[in-house]
Amino acid sequence: MVKITINGRNINAPEGVTVLHAARENNINIPTLCENEAVAPYGACRLCLVEIKTAKGRQRLVTSCLYQVEEGLTVQTNTERIQKIRKMLIELLLARCPDSDVIQQMAKEHGVTGGRLTPQTGNNKCILCANCARTCEEVVGVSAISLSKRGVERELTTPFGEDNSDDCIGCGSCSYSCPTGAITMEDKNGTRKITWPHNEMKFKMKKCSVCGQFWAPVKQVEYVAKTSGTPVTDYDICPNCRE
Ligand code: SF4
Ligand code: FES
Repeated sequence: MVKITINGRNINAPEGVTVLHAARENNINIPTLCENEAVAPYGACRLCLVEIKTAKGRQRLVTSCLYQVEEGLTVQTNTERIQKIRKMLIELLLARCPDSDVIQQMAKEHGVTGGRLTPQTGNNKCILCANCARTCEEVVGVSAISLSKRGVERELTTPFGEDNSDDCIGCGSCSYSCPTGAITMEDKNGTRKITWPHNEMKFKMKKCSVCGQFWAPVKQVEYVAKTSGTPVTDYDICPNCRE
């Protein structure tokens, strides 16, 4: 355990955890968008900025989702300086993604009204945090999508910018992990449709041989069977009917 203070509160935190983790464990709220415990920390949105002072007296701003606790660390999560930077970051995100309910709500909570920057059009809700791509690679093990290009052209795409990604198994993990609702998923009439900011793909779904419900994309079932070394026929019955 190491002793730190957050906003003046004395806290004992396990070695190796991030400042964000220690804050959350002690019910201290730090706003985040790109943080996702299922994947390695990335530090894309910068909203979790905090001010720190080390035991040696060094002061600076750090992203709390990346910075690990250390003995004698003093953390401030909501100073005037932090609030000003956070508001500016949210204003930029709002201009980029004016149609995202999540960003709108965040702007409201932080008193950001927009108006100084011209909002982008086209219902783009992607903040380029790469949560989707990191989940696809690190959790699913597929790497069907990634961020490509640089600067203002940076975007989420399938490999080589093709409309279709052969690697994609249609599991929808990207949609679940997206913090801003930029990726949607719909299951209808035996087909799953996943819509990313710049393309969409459809996947045939597997029908349960007992209840007749379509319960998972065929490609996902085949992938799970292959990676687990089990016969694909083991998945003829949906999880509900197997219980
Ligand atoms: S689609 Fe969502 S998860 Fe993927 S980069 Fe954009 S905001 Fe992040
Ligand atoms: S949550 Fe830390 S940079 Fe996004």
